[in-house]
Formats: sequence, structure tokens, C-alpha cells
Amino acid sequence: MCGIIGYVGLGKASQIITDGLKRLEYRGYDSVGIAVLKNKKFELRKDKGMVGEVSSQLEFTTMDGNIGIGHTRWATHGVVCTENAHPHFDCNKTVVLAHNGVIENFLQLKKGLNGHKFSSETDSEVVAHIFEENLKLLSPEEAFLTTISSLGGSYAIAALSTNDPEERLFIARRNSPLIIGVGKGEMFCASDIPAMLPYTRSFIHLEEGDRAILSKSGYTIYDPEGKKINREIITVDWNFDVAQKGGYSHFMLKEIHDQEHFIGQTLHSETDKAKVMIDKFEKIHILAAGTSYHSALLFSYLLSEKGKIAQAFVASDYQFIGKPDEKTLVIAISQSGETADVLQALRYASKSKKIAITNTIGSTITRISDETILLNAGPEVGVAATKTFTSQMAIIYKIIYGKVKLSALQKLIATMLECEESVRKIAPLLAKKSNVFFIARGKNVPIAYEASLKFKEITYISSEAYPGGELKHGTLSLITEGVPVIVLAPNDQTLSKLAGNIQEAKARGAMILSITDDPETAKISYQSIQIPKCDPLLYPFALIIPLQLLAYHVSIERGINPDRPRNLAKSVTVE
Ligand code: F6R
Repeated sequence: MCGIIGYVGLGKASQIITDGLKRLEYRGYDSVGIAVLKNKKFELRKDKGMVGEVSSQLEFTTMDGNIGIGHTRWATHGVVCTENAHPHFDCNKTVVLAHNGVIENFLQLKKGLNGHKFSSETDSEVVAHIFEENLKLLSPEEAFLTTISSLGGSYAIAALSTNDPEERLFIARRNSPLIIGVGKGEMFCASDIPAMLPYTRSFIHLEEGDRAILSKSGYTIYDPEGKKINREIITVDWNFDVAQKGGYSHFMLKEIHDQEHFIGQTLHSETDKAKVMIDKFEKIHILAAGTSYHSALLFSYLLSEKGKIAQAFVASDYQFIGKPDEKTLVIAISQSGETADVLQALRYASKSKKIAITNTIGSTITRISDETILLNAGPEVGVAATKTFTSQMAIIYKIIYGKVKLSALQKLIATMLECEESVRKIAPLLAKKSNVFFIARGKNVPIAYEASLKFKEITYISSEAYPGGELKHGTLSLITEGVPVIVLAPNDQTLSKLAGNIQEAKARGAMILSITDDPETAKISYQSIQIPKCDPLLYPFALIIPLQLLAYHVSIERGINPDRPRNLAKSVTVE
């Protein structure tokens, strides 16, 4: 939610920041802005719209200067308009600031700022004015640290001040991600690593409540009490290419195709220590949100099969219904490792041992867990999670069944990707519909939920998923002539019961589209995608690939940009 980037060095700040904003756009894309400091004066350009359009209309890269900040917005406080876009000035343009998060005490803080003139409706602007106020009495360092100490809620902040003779970048974070990029003679900060990948591979993940001051020659980090502190520098071996579209029209399509390659990397991830912990506990809670919740659900089914008392929880509701104690192992699954709902739920489980499954090395989730499993799927830029879902499943399968069982997985994914042409032919048919249903049974149900989420998220067509047996308990009333029912029908123990559900839907006129390796099911379907001969254990992987492709191609057919679905952002760092 919102992307921030800051730069100080000898390079052209506006160019580096504009490029970085393009790579951060998945975090929010309703407005964008940039501010550069030169000769003790700020130049600020911002507007509503996407990074590409606004940056070329306002000619961001013509701005001169070697220090600056940029922001791409996902609105929380205040409508989408130029004034509410970041960065924000104070009254006298001595401070400029970009913020991601929610300043929960902003109204209270605003009341104490008599005489200050506000230009936006945002909670963020108040921070610029407090900084301005503190600069009247204190040095720039002290003024910034004092400003941050007064803030409640969540924030990742990057600020500059004309009062600072050394021209440095002031940054802080709490409950919103902010990472320092350590360069040679230059320093960066950004909400996520891909924004800085072209310039450095050395990063520092700030801890909760940390503040830092960056100059071209180095950095100083302060802990929440204002004491200077060292934080570990990590080196990532991500190739810059993984954060590029690489010839594909969208990140989502690239990432769907990437699955064939990244799955091998995921299967090398270290899972032994976590497995030892899992074996020790009888009661296991798995917490996650969105797509990751569907992995959690699958995990809970597989653990229950092994005799564990396992339950998956939607992270945002865990505080109301979960009762974790020291006898409960808590596993949190989060691609980004920064989802506020997941972090909040993990903190709620304070008495429990915790395992994190994440794609993001050094992310907050890894720091509040006892053990971490990394997905090693490479950065995922498309807002709709694809390759990280299959990676999460692969990790879960490795824990439950062992790596050997997954030896044929890469080949299976490659074969399923070959069905793209058939999927493309079905897409125009679905693009005209207003309702779509997905049905499955047993362990395939979480895959149906995930397929439905993917579908509605990027096609804006209403979609629902059910265990097939549930249709007759209410949903059948919605199945009329021509309504598409997409059936996940591998030839496993669920098929005979699912066959009955297909007939129930067909009898009401449903248009059955199936993904199956059963010739009979294919025959009674309007259209069918073929699953190749494979180990039945791997069916969930075979099912999800064509369904991701289906969501993608229907989205394209409807003229939607699947990488930028409306109202959404990739990393949801507000509760
Ligand atoms: C959907 C999607 C979201 C995320 C959810 C959790 O395609 O990507 O539903 O799965 O916001 O994100 P993480 O896994 O980063 O915690």
C-alpha cells in the first residue's frame, strides 16, 4: 500500500526515483509524485494517475538534483486528487515528505498546530508540519527524531529539509516496510527491494520504530529510543531481470510462466528445522490473507490428514476467534512478509512458537517468527499472486510428503502451461458473462477458492467457489441457462461425487467447463482442459496453472490491465 523511494548521491535523483516508482507501482497506483532538492530549494511535481502517464506528462526526469523522494499512492485518507498526492510540503516549503501507512493520532496532532496552513486532506501532511515546527528549535536530526516520536499508528516516511546544510534523507518506519539500499557513494531507501535492484544488492531491513539519516557517504540508524544502532546488511542474489517483464505483455503472464523455473528453486528451500517443529506439535494454527489463505487452508487439510489438530484462519479475524497458547504452533504464510493483518495476528499469538513462510528475506514476518521458510520464488510484481501460490504449495507438499514426491512437478507445470492456447479460446466466452462459479471437492477446494479470487480480482466478473456438494444447499438457485460452472475434476476420489454435482448444474442449463483427466467428464463438458497423466498427489498444481491463465486471458479480453486491478495493491500494509 503506497510505495516510497528516496535517493541521495551523485546520480540524477529524478531519473533514479522515476525508474524506482515504476517498479513500485504495484503497491498503489492512484497518484504519484516526486520532490527533488537543489540549491536549498525544492521542486515538486505530482498528480493523480499512474506513474508512466504522470511522470511523462509532468516531465519528472527533467528535474535536476542529487537528492529526492518519490511516492506512488493507494489512497487511505482523502480522495484521489492532486492535492492529496504525495510528497507534501509544510507551510514554508522547508520540509517535503512522503508517507506510507496511517497516522492514527493525526487529528490530535493537527489540533496542536495552530496557525499552520494545510493543503491536503491526508493524515500524512501533519507530519511535515510537525517537522517544520520542531526545526524552529532543534537541529535537523533532533527535529526529525522528535517528530517521529510523536506519531501514532503505522508509517514508512522519507523526508527532506532545506534547513539541513548536509542535504540528507530522513527516514523512519513502524508497521510499514522501508528498506535501506547501500550503494557506493550513494544511498537509497524504498518500500521494497526491486525498486533498488538496478543499483545495489546490499540492503538493510529497518526494525520496527527505527529511524535513519542517509547521506551520500553513509547512514546512521537510531532505535526507537533514539540510540544509535547497527543493523545487519543483507546481500540478495536476485537478478535484476526477474523484476522486468522480459518480453511478456504483463508481469502476471511472465510470473505464471516463471513457475516452471522457480519451482525448482523453491524445492531447494530449507524446510527441515520447521518440519521438526511441526512434528513436535499436535495443535497447529495457520494464519494468512487472500491467496496465501488458500495455501493455509490446503496446509490445514493435509496436516489434518496426518492426524494433527490443524486449523487455517483468515489473519484479520484471528484475534476474535483464535485461542493460541504455548501448546499451539502458529504458522504464518505471507508472500510479502509485510501484510499488516498477518503481522497483527502473529503478534496476538505471543505465547506460541511461530514459523513464517514467506518470499521476502528480512521481512517483518521473519523477525517476529522463531523459524522462517523462504519460498525463493524471486520477486513477484504482478498484483495477483501466481508463482508465490504454487511455491507456497510446493513448500507445504515438501513438508508433508518429502521432496522426492515432487520430482515430476517441474515437468507437470511445463505441460500445463502448454494449454494456454486452449485457455485463450475459452476466454472470449467467459468475458461476456456476469457470474462464474467454480466447484471442486476435498483437497481441490482451496484451489477452486484461489481460482475464483484470481478471476474476480482481475476480470471484475462476479465469481464464487464452492465444494460441489454445497450447490444444492442454496447456490443452485443462481445456476440458470448458460451460467458458467468451472469444474476442477481430476480423476481422484472426489470425482464420482463431483460427477453428480456436474449433472445437477447441467440440468439447470449450466455451461460446464472442466479441467480433468477423465474422458467421461470431458465428454459432458462444453469445453475441457486436459490434465496429463500424473501422480494424483500433484493434481492441485495441475489445476491451478490453467485457472491462472484463464483469469489472465479473460482480463485481457475485457480490456483490463491485470497487473493493476482497480482498488487493489500488492502489499497490504494497513489493517
Ligand atoms: C491476490 C493476492 C492477495 C494476497 C494477500 C496476502 O492475488 O495477491 O490476496 O495474497 O494480500 O498477501 P501476502 O501473501 O503478501 O501476505
